Amino acid sequence: MATEDGKKVPLHVSIIMDGNGRWAKERGKERVYGHFEGVESVRACVEASVETGVRYLSLFAFSEENWGRPDAEVSALMELMVKAMRAEMDSLNKNGVRFMVLGNRAHLSDNVNNVIDDCMQMTASNTRLTLILFMSYSGKWDILQAAKRLAAEAAANPEGIDAILSMDNDAFARYLVTDGIPDPDLIIRTSGETRLSNYLLWQGAYSELLFVDTLWPDFRKEEFRLALESYSKRDRRYGKVK
Ligand code: IPE
Ligand code: IPE
Ligand code: MG
Repeated sequence: MATEDGKKVPLHVSIIMDGNGRWAKERGKERVYGHFEGVESVRACVEASVETGVRYLSLFAFSEENWGRPDAEVSALMELMVKAMRAEMDSLNKNGVRFMVLGNRAHLSDNVNNVIDDCMQMTASNTRLTLILFMSYSGKWDILQAAKRLAAEAAANPEGIDAILSMDNDAFARYLVTDGIPDPDLIIRTSGETRLSNYLLWQGAYSELLFVDTLWPDFRKEEFRLALESYSKRDRRYGKVK
């Protein structure tokens, strides 16, 4: 996709939102204060996506591994996400944003799941931007749940085994939680860490990666635009010769 000035705009931008705790620590505050401020950055990136023509914005909000954090931080994060979903829903809906949560939802509480269901239903027919929150997600979990579902299908219908054995990448990807969502063109990670931390392992196979030092609560519209600028200069070859 290209803008009026001819720059290519990623269809799908994905962000590993990292550095909230350090941001708060730098200010002598509790970690949760950083998470709180990070919600503002989410709002800014949603707006920037709409303004720049990005059609899918996905955000790594909580990993399967993050369940291992202290209980108080986990509950504060869940509470914050519920509050933010409730507070932002009307405005997202008015702005044509379709909202989705992807991840191991069986690990989320009924209360959290109910709010997610409400928000997803309310915004289901919007088409301007799809905003995906990855919650209780990990890339290995995603691939494993796909494999287990396939195994269950094979057990239930042994005649279908040939179809499973002849599956290609696209057919397998339909079993991932991201079925129907294009793979991310650009994955950004904030806070200076240069790892994927078990995020979108399959879907990110050919994503452009951008690691920035900015801590997530400081990542606002200007930083988002700079990331898009960096992407527009990338040469994606997919293993071929150009
Ligand atoms: C990202 O910020 C938010 C989540 C992972 C939920 P962190 O909480 O990881 O902040 P740092 O990396 O400790 O600074
Ligand atoms: C990755 O950040 C997960 C999210 C941003 C939700 P972490 O802070 O959990 O990652 P590590 O532990 O530094 O790899
Ligand atoms: Mg972190």
